[in-house]
Amino acid sequence: MNLAVVILAAGESTRMKSELPKVLHPLAGRPMISYSVETAAQLGAGKPVLVVGHGLEQVREAVGDAVEYAVQEERLGTGHAVLQARPLLEGRCDTVLVCYGDMPLLAVETLRQLTVQQAASGSPVTILTLLARDPRGFGRVVRDAEGRVLAVVEEADCTAEQLAIAELNAGVYCFEASWLWEHLPRLPLSRKGEYYLTDIVGLAVAEGVEVATVTTDDETQCLGINTRVHLAEAERAMRQRINRRWMLEGVTLVDPETTYIDATVEIGPDTVIYPNTHLRGQTCIGRQCRIGPNCVLVDTVVGDRCQILLSVAEQARLEEEVDIGPFAHLRQGAHLARGVHMGNFGEVKNSYLGPGVKMGHFSYVGDATVGAEVNIGAGTITCNYDGVRKQRTVIEEGAFIGSDTMLVAPVRVGAGAKTGAGSVVTHDVPPGSLVYGVPARVKRKKEETSSEAGAGGETEHG
Ligand code: UD1
Ligand code: CA
Repeated sequence: MNLAVVILAAGESTRMKSELPKVLHPLAGRPMISYSVETAAQLGAGKPVLVVGHGLEQVREAVGDAVEYAVQEERLGTGHAVLQARPLLEGRCDTVLVCYGDMPLLAVETLRQLTVQQAASGSPVTILTLLARDPRGFGRVVRDAEGRVLAVVEEADCTAEQLAIAELNAGVYCFEASWLWEHLPRLPLSRKGEYYLTDIVGLAVAEGVEVATVTTDDETQCLGINTRVHLAEAERAMRQRINRRWMLEGVTLVDPETTYIDATVEIGPDTVIYPNTHLRGQTCIGRQCRIGPNCVLVDTVVGDRCQILLSVAEQARLEEEVDIGPFAHLRQGAHLARGVHMGNFGEVKNSYLGPGVKMGHFSYVGDATVGAEVNIGAGTITCNYDGVRKQRTVIEEGAFIGSDTMLVAPVRVGAGAKTGAGSVVTHDVPPGSLVYGVPARVKRKKEETSSEAGAGGETEHG
């Protein structure tokens, strides 16, 4: 079988009431359409054809060259949309699978089943039908007394009797290509002024052709997203699918109902995720970590055996055995080396904290390089911004920064140096020395200090 897949995504998304095209609304952190594209690609049938219209440029930007594009200039219905793929596909394939870009939970096995049934039945058209309790506005599959499919009727066009039918049109179809191209232009205009792909079933029946079906009762897979209510339902279903996968991979989710993991995230085994934790984007977590409760990690890489409690991290990197929180905030470019401890109300941005650094309470470290085993006292601030430029602070290995020290950048604190509590450090601090005061000055050996320190009237808080 020479197969091609067509995904429809040109609709105006009226029911979403959104500036953003429907198929770009995110689901578990990725645009909805990316799921259909990926599922289609798994069939190994070459690049799927994506029919786009409304929000064309935005869709192109999000999907890139994973698909071939066909443009539907006017929104004239799902049948008309498929017709736009014809110039790309005619003569290139003998079987065409059609699905909708607003059904992100559809599984590749279901698509395969359709192609298998299509090949086995000898019918030029196979449709996926769904047995469901809640019709959710889907078209109804009308059969005759012998069980032969007669038509698919859109809900708005259903008689009272047809509305009661529990077999629904899921919105996935498999066609013999030449039959499809021949019949698409013959679709009748619907009451709504559109050419419905579903009416192709009626055309087949009128020609005495039996329509083949594959039937499922998996409502989750067939969730079609037309409104934001559906979007929330799909999000929930996707979340359950993702969480289940990670639990089976050896990750403990204390409460899967309140654990929000994007489809793009990776997590190592024996990690425990506590409730109300959000793992987003390209976040990657190692083994044996404890994350949460109440954490938000975005595009953050976490090594093995880390602990993160009630904290937020964006574009940060934690090596192994880092322990942060509660209430830590790591921003873009924060890199915490092995064994760093960061306590409450700290913020780190665009800085490297070397192995074993301790930063227990209320500190801001921005645009800094901090060597191994440095102790950062409570309330320390790197004053990195003078109103015009950002400047760097360097604190060398083993330094001890006293409580409430202001490090006015650019500035360097030498290895093993100390700053007194409350110092405002405006000049580089020599290695091994002690500075104190406002502005901070070097404390001299006993014989030199009497005149200098005494004259300034300053007290030492070393
Ligand atoms: C459609 C089916 C319905 C089925 C349901 C399942 C039709 C007429 N109806 O209804 O039987 O039960 O899906 O989810 O097919 N699109 C275009 N161009 C258009 C119109 C739509 O590309 O001119 C795209 C949309 O972007 C969307 C898909 O086709 O991805 C389906 O359109 P939508 O308006 O969502 O159809 P439903 O009302 O859900
Ligand atoms: Ca739909």
